[in-house]
Amino acid sequence: KKSQAWSALFSEPMSDLVKRYTASVDFDKRLWRADITGSLAHAEMLQAQGILSAEDHAAIQKGMAQISAEIEAGSFVWKLDLEDVHLNVEARLTELVGIAGKRLHTGRSRNDQVATDVRLWLRGEIDEISVLLVALQRVLVEQAAKHAEVILPGFTHLQVAQPVSFGHHLLAYVEMFARDAERLADVRKRVNRLPLGAAALAGTSYPLDRERVAATLGMEGVCQNSLDAVSDRDFAIEFSAAASLAMVHISRLSEELILWMSQNFGFIALPDAFCTGSSIMPQKKNPDVPELARGKTGRVVGHLVGLVTLMKGQPLAYNKDNQEDKEPLFDTVDTLKDTLRIFADMLAGLTVKPEAMRAAALRGYATATDLADYLVKKGLPFRDAHEVVAHAVKTASTRGIDLAALSLDELRAFDARIENDVFEVLSLEGSLNARSTLGGTAPSQVRAQVARHRSRLG
Ligand code: ARG
Repeated sequence: KKSQAWSALFSEPMSDLVKRYTASVDFDKRLWRADITGSLAHAEMLQAQGILSAEDHAAIQKGMAQISAEIEAGSFVWKLDLEDVHLNVEARLTELVGIAGKRLHTGRSRNDQVATDVRLWLRGEIDEISVLLVALQRVLVEQAAKHAEVILPGFTHLQVAQPVSFGHHLLAYVEMFARDAERLADVRKRVNRLPLGAAALAGTSYPLDRERVAATLGMEGVCQNSLDAVSDRDFAIEFSAAASLAMVHISRLSEELILWMSQNFGFIALPDAFCTGSSIMPQKKNPDVPELARGKTGRVVGHLVGLVTLMKGQPLAYNKDNQEDKEPLFDTVDTLKDTLRIFADMLAGLTVKPEAMRAAALRGYATATDLADYLVKKGLPFRDAHEVVAHAVKTASTRGIDLAALSLDELRAFDARIENDVFEVLSLEGSLNARSTLGGTAPSQVRAQVARHRSRLG
């Protein structure tokens, strides 16, 4: 009994294990919509070129409409024997419309078909991810607007460095996610090119109009070399790299949220709906969502490495290796989309604790640089000022107090140029306001950046 599309040549059946091993339908069925869209564009062009009759074209359209309805309704029967989404859809089409279904594959191979499907599908996903990135940025921008004046210690080496605005800190992530969106928009241009017409590897003898199919599918152009068109998955790798970077940004933010929520910081609280308790310790509220996001970043980066490695040893043109591009790609898209959605919701409900942030900023001599800058303005060379302030910090820390808690006389003992106006300079607000260069942390700058982002994000 014939069990496969090509089996006239085959004298022995596949074992169930090999069938399962080589089949992809269990996962590539999610490409069905792209598969049908691509087939319809191909059929339309075949008819326009006189390769397919109007009746056959109409039958294909009708059959495909029914198949779409069946798949949407969940009544479509996917068969492992038919290996993948392409053969499943085509077999059902022939069942439904007969000979016209058998003509659809004219001038086409699954090799250019699958490359087209993945590109069409990925293009749609990129558009959805771009929308999610905008939504996440909006949440961060509004939180930044609300907390432009809230001061927390900025860190280097996780040691208190200089005070910064919490809004400024959040806007740093907005910059990262904006670049992620930019990268995706750029990747999209190269995803959105048409392999169809490359056929198995060498092109086809039918007079296909590839440009027409590209236009029908809203693609920016056709792949210009048939061997390249069916075999490279660099577009998927690029996407995966862009997705990995977006996850890396999420992961860095997660790490900060986790730290900030710990008792030792106490800067923020995450909404309960994004935390879990402990089965043994009744007092626990754990930031599971950011921790998982940090963990899932490893998985997305792993997929990137998987895809690059999948590609690296392949000779031209198509090899079955490429069937392995799908699961990592699908999982990358799913993970990134879920994560972006969850983060937008979670961050909208962030509780900020300005007193704890302020207390932490007052602990680590965060305004020491301001005192040095003050002395420079009074005529001391910066290197000398640096040294003077180091002495002042040493004295203050021995006594366990802040620089601003030293009296004017005590401060003047380090340098006589110090006057009463020093206390404004030593304050957290003074330090922030002084850093008003473009992109600096002064609340005036933060507000300007918020305005820019609001108009950019619409
Ligand atoms: N399921 C296959 C894939 O995902 C479709 C292309 C199969 N082509 C072939 N020559 N076996 O790559």
